[in-house]
Amino acid sequence: MRIVSIGAGPAGLYFSLLMKKADPAHDIRVVERNRADDTFGFGVVFSDATLENVAEADRESHAEITGHFAHWDDIDIHYRGEVLTSAGHGFAGMSRQLLLDILQRRCAALGVRLEFQREVGDLSAYADADLVLAADGVNSVVRSRYAEHFRPQVDWRPNKFVWLGTTFPYPAFTFLFKESAHGLWRVHAYRYDASMSTFILETTEETWRRAGLDQADEDQTLAFCERLFAEELQGHRLLKNRSLWRSFPTVRNGCWHHRNVVLVGDAAHTAHFSIGSGTKLAIEDAIALARALQRHGEVEKALAAYEEDRRPEVERLQRAAQVSLEWFEETERYHGRLEPIQFAMSLLTRSLRVTHDNLKLRDPGFVATVDRWYASQAEQQSRVAMPAAPPPPPMFTPFRLRDMLLSNRIVVSPMCQYSAEDGTPGDWHLVNLGSRAVGGAALVIAEMTDVSREGRITPGCTGMYKPEHLAAWKRIVDFVHAASPARIALQLAHAGRKGSTRRLWEGIDEPLADGNWPLISASALPYHPHSQVPKAMERGDMDAVRDQFVRAARMAEQAGFDMLELHGAHGYLLASFISPLTNVRTDEYGGALVNRMRFPLEVFDAVRAVWPRQKPVSVKISATDWAEGGLSAEDAVNLARILREHGCDIVTVSTGQTVPDQKPVYGRLYQTPFSDRIRYEAGIPTMTVGSIASYDDVNSILAAGRADLCVLARGHLYDPYWTRHAAYEQGWDLPWPDQYVSVKSFTPRRD
Ligand SMILES: Cc1cc2nc3c(=O)[nH]c(=O)nc-3n(C[C@H](O)[C@H](O)[C@H](O)COP(=O)(O)OP(=O)(O)OC[C@H]3O[C@@H](n4cnc5c(N)ncnc54)[C@H](O)[C@@H]3O)c2cc1C
Ligand SMILES: Cc1cc2nc3c(=O)[nH]c(=O)nc-3n(C[C@H](O)[C@H](O)[C@H](O)COP(=O)(O)O)c2cc1C
Repeated sequence: MRIVSIGAGPAGLYFSLLMKKADPAHDIRVVERNRADDTFGFGVVFSDATLENVAEADRESHAEITGHFAHWDDIDIHYRGEVLTSAGHGFAGMSRQLLLDILQRRCAALGVRLEFQREVGDLSAYADADLVLAADGVNSVVRSRYAEHFRPQVDWRPNKFVWLGTTFPYPAFTFLFKESAHGLWRVHAYRYDASMSTFILETTEETWRRAGLDQADEDQTLAFCERLFAEELQGHRLLKNRSLWRSFPTVRNGCWHHRNVVLVGDAAHTAHFSIGSGTKLAIEDAIALARALQRHGEVEKALAAYEEDRRPEVERLQRAAQVSLEWFEETERYHGRLEPIQFAMSLLTRSLRVTHDNLKLRDPGFVATVDRWYASQAEQQSRVAMPAAPPPPPMFTPFRLRDMLLSNRIVVSPMCQYSAEDGTPGDWHLVNLGSRAVGGAALVIAEMTDVSREGRITPGCTGMYKPEHLAAWKRIVDFVHAASPARIALQLAHAGRKGSTRRLWEGIDEPLADGNWPLISASALPYHPHSQVPKAMERGDMDAVRDQFVRAARMAEQAGFDMLELHGAHGYLLASFISPLTNVRTDEYGGALVNRMRFPLEVFDAVRAVWPRQKPVSVKISATDWAEGGLSAEDAVNLARILREHGCDIVTVSTGQTVPDQKPVYGRLYQTPFSDRIRYEAGIPTMTVGSIASYDDVNSILAAGRADLCVLARGHLYDPYWTRHAAYEQGWDLPWPDQYVSVKSFTPRRD
């Protein structure tokens, strides 16, 4: 095979050596615009896992690479005069120049032709190649040449960073946060040989401009940074190497191959330097591509197999990198607000790859400190004494809202069962909610329950508008109180334009075939084009609906519920006022957010006025519509702030379901970043919901301060005893009901 690699970075060199090693008959050229010893940057980082792949692919270069490693286990976090250390992280760094030297030598020894100082502009010179490797980095010319096939997207991030070196030999991977008159600076520093460290300085564009660095050349940048970090550098110098201020581009491509041309490394994808994975990804691409070519004789087939193999892993890493880079873009949110230990937890768990549980394995002492600190905060907040030792896992700490005391942080999310008779909950609801309360969750929120017959989503939805409803709900509430320490809340709602539809399993959000009832909403806009058109509410309708909410709240109090949640999410009636996509009114209930909030707040205030003072009220919101022109995360912060000012005790942060053409980005804990932001920026407690599946995620969310309570919906359909099982797995003693005490002598087996 005739192979040409455009670029002699880690991807081009490593791929070339693997191919030549696999078959010396291959004719392989690597064309590089720089000189052989010309490299920008200082050190690169590898994790232990990457090294295993490298060892397997080419033992010779692996031996040389590892021979030059600077190893470290600790992460040091410098925050407001304290240094917090988390151990057991297993990383290695080395000089980028040395890595490239090793790979160049290995290529040369195997017979790869290396051509330096040759800039490729026109690909026609390589028309006879069987394979053209676009290993030409983040600004790939090959990618631009075939842009219509690769469909690149480049997301330029707002922060500014500069890559420097220093003679200060950092003993650990070091994150340094420093405030100056200009703003907050973040440093990512790590040693890459006996005497040298990489020192990446990052800040927001505003801070960078305030410091005048938009006008600074390399030497001025260096002088500024040395002054700023004089104390930390302890007399050591900073070094430059084409150290220009940049913005980070996250590169993605719709397709990674076109005919015999293939993208690898940074040309195909980038991942923010805060998760230190660019070189790792480049090398892993090279390994996967070489393997695919050896498996599939035909080039085009092999390229497709390579992309199929690598894309999921790369996208997973890019998602982690995205959360990580956002954390560094938003550090001002946490800095100064969080106590050092929680700041460290927030930083370490930012990308979801490091969790409470795997930190515990790496450094049990660190996690014990976190848990002790969290328990002491919970003790103060709930006014309940905690056992001194061992501290409970964060999920088993109490939480108080007004006089309602929750014994742990797990909540059963409201879930429509579509099994009521004219709004009356029956035996199904008793068993459904009763078993979840017995299952250990501290709070069970009963399904969306409608304040009027016409306010139901489907004919099977529960209601709170007839005397029979009160009695039926009271039976359930009484059972929960008698059989468990759980508290029970009722979610009150009106379906608005999403009403008069079929049960979930008969076609969600689809209009009923017959027996429809008239709909109301903020504006006369149907949900689907084929849905019923709602009437835009007039003042009289608003009065009627507000009074229905008040009536339902009074009935809920008589039934003994401990808390109310108003459903202001998912496109139902109250949400239809809040979102600009569903509220196009021109009166005082439409327009700016404060106007769109007017009617939902009238309802909230009226309910709050009749609901007992000692009992809390929450509101569930959609923090984004996941749609162009819809509600944004920033709106959600304002919305939550206004709710707090009106006496809302806690916000449940959900997203979407406002319009059918939403484009949500699903994934593990995908709604938690919204909760995190609202909790800090609006200063209100939050419940986070959405794809929370493990107790480890719950502990991580809580300890990092991303929410106060964790809400599971489908997880509780799968396992009503989710909290009990989580307690068992963590060795936490959660008392069983008397009827079930025999379970203590039973050992479950899950294999
Ligand atoms: C600030 C910063 C910190 C980083 N820290 C780390 C880290 O800690 N760990 C880590 O693993 N990664 C890190 N990276 C990322 C890492 O540098 C890259 O992800 C990695 O080098 C990608 O390898 P590559 O072979 O795809 O591209 P590159 O290493 O960029 O190589 C591309 C090569 O192609 C050459 N080239 C480009 N255009 C042409 C042309 N037209 N003709 C000929 N040659 C051309 C270039 O000169 C270059 O040598 C960091 C990046 C930055 C910006
Ligand atoms: C069957 C079912 C019914 C639901 N009904 C409601 C509801 O009545 N009220 C509500 O706010 N959310 C409702 N939801 C949404 C969930 O409460 C929750 O926000 C969502 O499922 C995400 O959580 P999960 O990933 O833990 O399932 C329902 C979800 C499911 C699966």
